[in-house]
Amino acid sequence: MTAKELRTMYVNFFKERGHAEIPSASLLPENDPTVLFTIAGMHPLMPYLLGEKHPAGKRLTDVQKCVRTVDIDEVGDDMHLTFFEMLGNWSLGDYFKEESIAMSYDFLTNYLHIPPERLAVTVFEGDETEPADLEAERIWMAQGLKQEQVYRYGREENWWGPAGQTGPCGPDTEIFYDMGKPKCGPGCGPACKCGKYVEIWNNVFMQYNKTADGKFEVLKQKNVDTGMGMERVLTIFNGKTNVYDTELFLPVMTRLNEFLEEAGRQMPIRERRIVCEHIRAISFILVDPRKITPSNTEQGYIVRRLIRRVIRLLKQAELGSAHLCQLAEITIGQYEETYPELGESHGFILEQLQKEYVLFSKTLDEGLKKAGRYLENVGKSGVLDGELAFKLYDTYGFPIEFTVELAQERGVEVDMEGFHARFREHQEKSRQGAAGKFAGGLADHSEQTARLHTATHLLNGALRAVLGEEVSQRGSNITAQRLRFDFSFGRKVTGEELAQVEKIVNEAIEKKIDVVLEEMTPREAYAAGAIGVFSEKYGERVKVYTIPGYSKEICGGPHAQNTGELGSFRILKEEASSAGVRRIKAVIGN
Ligand code: ALA
Repeated sequence: MTAKELRTMYVNFFKERGHAEIPSASLLPENDPTVLFTIAGMHPLMPYLLGEKHPAGKRLTDVQKCVRTVDIDEVGDDMHLTFFEMLGNWSLGDYFKEESIAMSYDFLTNYLHIPPERLAVTVFEGDETEPADLEAERIWMAQGLKQEQVYRYGREENWWGPAGQTGPCGPDTEIFYDMGKPKCGPGCGPACKCGKYVEIWNNVFMQYNKTADGKFEVLKQKNVDTGMGMERVLTIFNGKTNVYDTELFLPVMTRLNEFLEEAGRQMPIRERRIVCEHIRAISFILVDPRKITPSNTEQGYIVRRLIRRVIRLLKQAELGSAHLCQLAEITIGQYEETYPELGESHGFILEQLQKEYVLFSKTLDEGLKKAGRYLENVGKSGVLDGELAFKLYDTYGFPIEFTVELAQERGVEVDMEGFHARFREHQEKSRQGAAGKFAGGLADHSEQTARLHTATHLLNGALRAVLGEEVSQRGSNITAQRLRFDFSFGRKVTGEELAQVEKIVNEAIEKKIDVVLEEMTPREAYAAGAIGVFSEKYGERVKVYTIPGYSKEICGGPHAQNTGELGSFRILKEEASSAGVRRIKAVIGN
């Protein structure tokens, strides 16, 4: 079966059962300022899951482009991907568990012809606030599954959502395919990572809305949200063991192998997979109409990080930008029939890859030499100094995750705390430098500055809410009197929009909301929907400031304790800063 056949089979199955087909939404969420990418089919449907009426009706189906950066470290194994296609079907207050499970079972066994004994499912085991989902369990068994094919797990495994900080969520039942390997031990089950069980589909029973203050409100309507991993199912259906053996990756992988052979070089399989996978993800991110380009913040940072990782792996095997572009062209060719936007943005994708290649290859070789030396000299500590990691970032353009990867290859750890301290110090200095005000001195951490800093977060959140996702921070400067905020946006902001932004910020001030500071790993911060610069080394902590309902950002602080301290907020001026960048000056006060 081809990918095209699988997409069609899925969508038709649900269309025949009363579902309307809707188009795939953008990879960059339009209505959720708290996350960088669309991570699931339900993501663009949030308002409808919360009760708004969908114009296409109560039963929907689609194929949605998704990116999950949290899985980046897993890429290179058999099944994990950053970019993937999610097949989905929804009931917006229409059918519930009974019909959802019955349809899933029908599709899996009668259409995909998966033998029932190769299925395993999980259901929510219950906790102090939510009972066990014995109903789902009973329905599965009524389809013909045996008790030993049904596993109960807690919230960690069997609760899905919200996608960002707030929104619809609920207990789920996950469906796994048993690859047929023996169990790795007595505790082996669907939650085990040994590779015996591959998750292929998830049916979420969305009955709650998680609010900004962390409460779970019961929704007016009971929804079903399902998501099936297209690439995984394609792999399994065609009797393969990994996604790279499917038609989706074979052409690009074959070409890469040819390049390596021509160059007389080797590349470990995991790295070859990373190259092919990342090129696909990069291509899909770059085609967004909002024209993301590699940068040091948000989506631009993710794309930069993916491209730089690929460049390094290719360069290691003496492959260059022509190879990179050819691999991207194969990927584009592969997908453009289904996703015409790839063909349309073909030139832009290649241009961005080339630009980033030129930029990065200037410093890569020397940086690698420096890094090699630093890593050799770590001595007994086995830890690379944060200062040196920062130097690699600042002077040689090494994303921190990249340095972490180099270090890991040599069994060295990176002092992330030190890195982030230097990073923040540097940011602070550039801000001061730009202001020309505190040059050489210490940052002004007075209470007023902290309040303006909090106002900046509120402003950022409000701009994203009013103008959309293309707003991302390009710079910020605070003096004791005012804040200045630069952000990406393609046109003048209208007076009406500015008034709306002001209104949102003032509303947050009037509500007297406590500013919450939490420390967490960047991965957790990302999962919680924070915006800012991400790095994902386990164990390392970042500060996340949340103004519930308005803002969640990774940031060094300091901030006001409560939004009420700001008194009020007023925009003084909106003007162009540079091409595609706008500047707002604003004040606070009583
Ligand atoms: N939204 C659910 C998931 O992504 C279906 O697993």
